Amino acid sequence: MKVNGTHYRSIWLNQDGWRVDVIDQTRLPHEFEIVTLETLENAARAIEVMQVRGAPLIGATAAYGICLALREDASDETLEAADARLRRTRPTAINLMWALDEMMASVRNLPREDRLAAAYARAAEFCDQDVATNEAIGRNGLKIIQEIAAKKPGETVNILTHCNAGWIATVDWGTALAPIYMAHDLGLPVHVWADETRPRNQGAALTAWELGSHGVPHTIVVDNAGGHLMQHGQVDMVIVGTDRTARNGDVCNKIGTYLKALAAKDNDVPFYVALPHSTIDWTVEDGVRDIPIEERSAEEVTHLTGKAEDGSIVKVQVSAPGSGAGNPAFDVTPARLVTGLITERGVCEALEAGLLSLYPEKADG
Ligand code: MRU
Repeated sequence: MKVNGTHYRSIWLNQDGWRVDVIDQTRLPHEFEIVTLETLENAARAIEVMQVRGAPLIGATAAYGICLALREDASDETLEAADARLRRTRPTAINLMWALDEMMASVRNLPREDRLAAAYARAAEFCDQDVATNEAIGRNGLKIIQEIAAKKPGETVNILTHCNAGWIATVDWGTALAPIYMAHDLGLPVHVWADETRPRNQGAALTAWELGSHGVPHTIVVDNAGGHLMQHGQVDMVIVGTDRTARNGDVCNKIGTYLKALAAKDNDVPFYVALPHSTIDWTVEDGVRDIPIEERSAEEVTHLTGKAEDGSIVKVQVSAPGSGAGNPAFDVTPARLVTGLITERGVCEALEAGLLSLYPEKADG
């Protein structure tokens, strides 16, 4: 998507052909800064401190992390250590494990001298596939927005989203935001309620920035406003992304998503989840019970980062010194609250049978 008229992906190969450039998402929306990753450790830290975030982008960064490790040393030991280091960075997004499984399968059995080129080729392929996948998700989700728009001709379609599942959470397009970009580009009147998404404010800082850069009308609301807006008919649909979708259709996404799904159910607002195949964990039968939830630092809750009046970026404390804070980063929305799953292969019910109707090759395992 475009930033000030220039097309960007969220991750790309530097002009030197080996280093990896990413947009530093910890600086947005105040500064558009590009960070160059040169080592495995740079890639792992970028994921941990959330310079890159969003399940698909975490996977793409990990893929390039393997490349950067192999550039220093293509031995089995280095490869295994790099894989283990990257796997430890963030535990919930299954795209990370999927990308690493794919990378390891592509290079592990090759002679050492062939590993580096194969790794870079596979990582580049990943990124291109992610873009194509998200574009297909966008087209499938667009049909749902068009159906809603057809029922209220001339009126704005109001869509609520949580966290950021836009183009900077993926390589391009995004998942939840892809249908919205397409609807907007087609001239449909869409307006997005962007949940601020405490504690890290991905909605206020990233979703709003993305939508604004592309010219999509939007309004930031505090996380607790969604239920009120739904009660008053101001939300036509909810679309969110996911970090891991269980075989039974349970959906794990940014903390607070579950509460939005509950409010949507109570108000008959359709609640959709947009996801690529790489977000489905076919080994998890019951998402509520079995998806691991990342616990992040208390400081993300007790402190806030923002732009001061003098233009500097500052961190301020919002709680009394000494108060502890809990920070589960994700929650799981049970499948019964999900109206449908929007994938690159089509839209299905949030049920094992629904997922298998789109991915029949997964029926046996
Ligand atoms: O902690 P984050 O910012 O990585 O969480 C991101 C989300 O919750 C997104 O909704 C999810 O990764 C889907 S991104 C297409």
